[in-house]
Amino acid sequence: ARLHTVASAAPVVAGQRRAKANIDWDSLGFGLKDVAGTMYVAEWTPEKGWDAGKLVPYGPMSVMPSAQVLNYGQAIFEGMKAQEGAKGRVVCFRPDQNAARFKAGAARMSMPAVPEDQFVEAVKSTIASNLDYVPPMGKGSLYLRPLLLGTGPILGLGPAPSYTFTIFAAAVGAYFKGGQLTPIDLIVEERFHRAAPGGMGGTKAAGNYSPVLVTQLEAKKNGFADVVYLDAKTDTYLEEVSSCNIFVVKGKTIKTPPLSGTILPGVTRRSIIELARSRGYTVLEEPTTVHDAMDADEVFTTGTAVVVSSVGSMTYRGNRKQYTAPGQAGKVALEMYGALTDIQTEKADDKFGWVV
Ligand code: COI
Repeated sequence: ARLHTVASAAPVVAGQRRAKANIDWDSLGFGLKDVAGTMYVAEWTPEKGWDAGKLVPYGPMSVMPSAQVLNYGQAIFEGMKAQEGAKGRVVCFRPDQNAARFKAGAARMSMPAVPEDQFVEAVKSTIASNLDYVPPMGKGSLYLRPLLLGTGPILGLGPAPSYTFTIFAAAVGAYFKGGQLTPIDLIVEERFHRAAPGGMGGTKAAGNYSPVLVTQLEAKKNGFADVVYLDAKTDTYLEEVSSCNIFVVKGKTIKTPPLSGTILPGVTRRSIIELARSRGYTVLEEPTTVHDAMDADEVFTTGTAVVVSSVGSMTYRGNRKQYTAPGQAGKVALEMYGALTDIQTEKADDKFGWVV
């Protein structure tokens, strides 16, 4: 039997709901200051497959130093958000998409897939048991971090003998430090690549996210929010930013790099493509050169954590292209941010059926 703790969709009175958590809702950043009290844990063994999973207090997990994940990095993760909407209920966004990507990632990393229905139920259970950590509408969200880890011990290189699927959560606000609507300055990285053809760039593997730090930290020291990676073969085409996908706008045409295996198939990326098309833009999933970007009217990035982030400037080989006036988000970025978050917070009609 699977865990089914999700109470009915009965609306919870927001004030009562938040009474327990002692959180300053006006100063949320993207961190663990307000980590939620309950986490979900399920275990997989070859004999029993996935167990039913349970909700436990947020706290340390115990593994051997010989755990596969600590030695060989067998780990994937997801990022998801639950928000308070205009109808007073708490909703999350396209969890089926994360469930499907989690399954595909497990296959790429030789891990047992979590059944998609168990994934979605686990997400709902984690949200339902942490409702007091869901910020008031418009102040932020409850960020969920599902992990699939090869926790069993092994010495020779091979898949772990056992696995852990866990979800923890935290109340969060804007990802970049200037705040949600402040444009970010990016620099194009030419020494390091994020992913290579045939590699795992299209997988949300933990191992994709630490090699980017060496460039990101240097960029931050030089006043940039993050770096843009180029393709490993020709150093010509945009790939993505360390933590988000990228879009380039010229007139009514929006271009974003295609999912060729090196690009993370973002749920927000896909949603913005669908939303932009429905609003009359031509959206091309096509190789997008760094020159397209330097010649663009506007650039923005998308991701669960970053939502939609306007790019203020891009610097390539010492040339800085300024897209927006200082502190002023781009027009298309603002339009897409509004259209997306209006659906995510149930202010607009959910005509795509994305909200759960
Ligand atoms: C997300 O956008 O949710 C991610 O998982 C990216 C992460 C680097 C914050």
